[in-house]
Amino acid sequence: MTMDFASRVQRVEPSATLAISNLAAELEADGVDVVDLSVGEPDFDTPENVKQAGIDAMEAGHTGYTTSNGIPELREAIATKLQDDGLDYGPENVIVTPGGKQALFEIFMSLIDDGDEVCLLDPAWVSYEAMVKMAGGTLSRVDLSPYDFQLEPALDDLAEAVSDDTELLVVNSPSNPTGAVYSDDALEGVRDLAVEHDITVISDEIYKEITYGVEHTSLGTLDGMADRTLTLNGFSKAYAMTGWRLGYFAGPEELVDQAGKLHSHSVSCAVNFVQHAGVEALENTDESVVEMRDAFEERRDMLADLFADHGVDVPVGDGAFYMMLPVDDDDQAWCEGAIEDAHVATVPGSAFGTPGYARLSYAASKERLQEGVERLAEHGYLD
Ligand SMILES: Cc1ncc(COP(=O)(O)O)c(C=O)c1O
Repeated sequence: MTMDFASRVQRVEPSATLAISNLAAELEADGVDVVDLSVGEPDFDTPENVKQAGIDAMEAGHTGYTTSNGIPELREAIATKLQDDGLDYGPENVIVTPGGKQALFEIFMSLIDDGDEVCLLDPAWVSYEAMVKMAGGTLSRVDLSPYDFQLEPALDDLAEAVSDDTELLVVNSPSNPTGAVYSDDALEGVRDLAVEHDITVISDEIYKEITYGVEHTSLGTLDGMADRTLTLNGFSKAYAMTGWRLGYFAGPEELVDQAGKLHSHSVSCAVNFVQHAGVEALENTDESVVEMRDAFEERRDMLADLFADHGVDVPVGDGAFYMMLPVDDDDQAWCEGAIEDAHVATVPGSAFGTPGYARLSYAASKERLQEGVERLAEHGYLD
């Protein structure tokens, strides 16, 4: 029998990162030591007190379903955090999801009809495009690569790319894959265009806690943005909780009502005891967050210096833990070669809509980063 697959899945390509991770897995199975700079997750363990809070919650019997939108304590804690950031949300504005990815999926599925236009700032995190396509949307893209991945100099290009037909714009600051943190002037430019064309904006702030020497501004705090911004965040990056699967989004109550239907009919709720651990993460991890952030900053500086020593100038962002290394035009071939010859795993920029780069994660130890750069240089990948 041949299955007749829905166009929504056929519209989506398998992830370009898969080729790299498959190659890495094959090499590792053969006993090869691969320096893996391809993964988007902190190399730290979840803070001890958060783990304990999860264990305690499990032992206290928090193992059943919860209210679909999330336990009141966590939604309260999230609303408090958002209010501290200057956003005017209460617990009724929040849906807690199993990971930020699910939050995004629910937003796209709630807002995008067939043919609706969504604008992305390239390079953009891989799953935005896939989710828009699954929802039936079309894409309009703005290339930030000519501007060292900054948004402010690209505002004219953004003005060209959006119109009254644009339904949604996705802003991810600090950015995966560039690490760029957009300036207040840039965000004000986004605001002006969003208001002019009546565009809803997703502000993906999952790397918000990981910035170096700059303040991150939440888009929803700007005049005119409160009722058109959907603020998304999660626990994976700031608290080293990727495998716990916990995230959330906040927005106007009418969106919460609509997205809540998708949420309750698909995942039901995020895991009960994980939500309790989430309260602990929000309330009692300031020190761990600072320690991880400081470590990432040191590594970023070291990595940029190592590339500079080899004569390669890499645009350095002020947040997240990624860098876009300029490579050959055929970045897919470069990344495949780098892993096969130098045994260094990276992700092709084309996976993010921007060929000619490789994304490196510096959520790895200094020794491994050093080793990675040495291997790339030895095998001629930095020439
Ligand atoms: C920009 C961005 N948004 C959202 C996510 C989703 O993360 P999670 O589902 O682990 O919360 C990621 C993960 O890599 C990301 O890089």
